[in-house]
Amino acid sequence: QLVSMTEMLNKALKEKYAVGQFNINNLEWTQAILQAAEEEKSPVILGVSEGAAKYMGGFKVVTAMVNALIDTMNITVPVAVHLDHGSSLETCTAAIDAGFSSVMIDNSKFPIEENIKATKTVVEYAHSKGASVEAEVGTVGGTEDGVTGGVMYADPEECKRMVEEAKIDALAAALGSVHGDYEGEPKLGFDEMKEISDLTGAPLVLHGGSGIPTHQIKKAIEYGHTKINVNTELQQVWTKRTREVIANDDKVYDPRKIVGPGKENITTATKAKMQEFGSSGQA
Ligand code: G3H
Ligand code: ZN
Repeated sequence: QLVSMTEMLNKALKEKYAVGQFNINNLEWTQAILQAAEEEKSPVILGVSEGAAKYMGGFKVVTAMVNALIDTMNITVPVAVHLDHGSSLETCTAAIDAGFSSVMIDNSKFPIEENIKATKTVVEYAHSKGASVEAEVGTVGGTEDGVTGGVMYADPEECKRMVEEAKIDALAAALGSVHGDYEGEPKLGFDEMKEISDLTGAPLVLHGGSGIPTHQIKKAIEYGHTKINVNTELQQVWTKRTREVIANDDKVYDPRKIVGPGKENITTATKAKMQEFGSSGQA
């Protein structure tokens, strides 16, 4: 039922749009994003960080939940469940064994030689199971799951080696995007982006997709980005609504009445991203 990212991203590359990776945290998030994808007739990638998977009870809980929702919600669009920023071969393997259709192996903190070598091992296992692999070269900055780091630009030659030697399906080349909120206007390295896209021909992945203005998103897609990751913005719109619910009713205690209403904001925001990325109507 779940599909890998390979076909989704190759089609997106050819037709110049991007598929959104929207990170999930729980049942409500998953329902809201799947609903958005179905309404927009858009392919969708559900991003699951290691922390989020742990929060939900493990990889098996995630795939059981997603598969059940695809069934009961009558979801007809292509859905990938993707491990976001996987930290080791072991976690990637465990995710795939639990039914994830895609993984990211994030070895960007290691020297390129090691990064390529470790990524290759993940690719061999993933491809044998029909799952796709994303790797990172350079470092995406900002804070995610409490981990903060600075930006380091991806080197074009290292990107080329990664794509050719490790045979990855998607490349996250860090070019100035950051996780979490941007301070002022994001400064993406568009010249380097074009160079890396031309050199590798690979579907590129933009991490830190929250808070990037539309004109920069469009340019990133023009320069080979086929996957854009969005997490923070969905968390912010859900939290905004939830705060209002509690502020407007100091007697409310039913968790469904507190957690539920924000779902609508997640769906609305996700649909807007799908339209912006051009993936609407592509399923
Ligand atoms: O891997 C996930 C992302 O890159 C999301 O970044 O939280 O800034 O939207 P974001
Ligand atoms: Zn990321």
